Amino acid sequence: MDPSRDNPIVRFTTFWWGIGTFFIFAALLAVIWLFARSEPETLEDAAAKPRYATKAKIDAAQAAALPDAAIEAAVPVVAQKLAASKPVAVEVPGQIVPGSETAKKLADAPKVDTSAIDKATAAADTPIDPAQMEAGKAEYMICGACHGQNGEGTPAGPPLAGSEWVTGPVSNLVLIQMRGLTGPITVAGKEYTFPAGMFPLGLGDKQIADVLTYIRNSFGNKASAVTVEQVTPLRGEVGKPQLTEAELTKP
Ligand code: HEC
Repeated sequence: MDPSRDNPIVRFTTFWWGIGTFFIFAALLAVIWLFARSEPETLEDAAAKPRYATKAKIDAAQAAALPDAAIEAAVPVVAQKLAASKPVAVEVPGQIVPGSETAKKLADAPKVDTSAIDKATAAADTPIDPAQMEAGKAEYMICGACHGQNGEGTPAGPPLAGSEWVTGPVSNLVLIQMRGLTGPITVAGKEYTFPAGMFPLGLGDKQIADVLTYIRNSFGNKASAVTVEQVTPLRGEVGKPQLTEAELTKP
């Protein structure tokens, strides 16, 4: 060692510089440790980790199978196909598409002559077959949803009890079953309006004859039975637009 440096003051200063440098490094390490340490792991975190890993794997697999770019490219093609599709005429009456050629042809068809059907109506006091009433009662379950189980009417349908339409011409009732009914309708002196009206329920000829016989002889109503022979001639009406009150025969 240089003899000139061998003096107590220099030794003293060097000693304290040494200590100081050590503490500066210690302080630096402490700061790094403070920022670098992570939160202590809870049990929930530990349990969630494999789930996150699995989700990441699934996301990656899905992204690889159907990339966003592919979806974006498909959207205009699908949209174009949807915009270009037009209603197709179907020959099955129950599947006639509104606005199709078939529907237009049916709407423009001349009004059918129903006088023969109404002429075939028996006198009101002709006895009613109890078996037909039973069968009609079973069919009526569905009508009761809108017209009330006792024909009293509900917010979804006008009353059948005391309705002049129900005890009036049979052809009206059959036509309503085949085509439905829309627009304001006056029943027993009161006008009713229902937003969608009534749609045909797709019942068979015998079911229609039975249910109409039932409503004509229930809820205080009294009228002749309806026969299948009065229903069948109006089968061709299915698919025509909903009727309005003006198209019905006045009771
Ligand atoms: C989804 C509800 C609904 C069902 C089900 C329904 N109707 Fe109707 N019905 C109506 C509505 C609504 C009207 C009135 C239509 C209009 O002019 O807007 C109506 C009108 C009538 C009318 C003429 C008006 C009157 O009150 O006399 C008769 C008759 C009738 N329905 C019989 C039936 C029979 C029979 C059935 C079961 C086979 C039936 N309806 C099932 C809703 C329904």
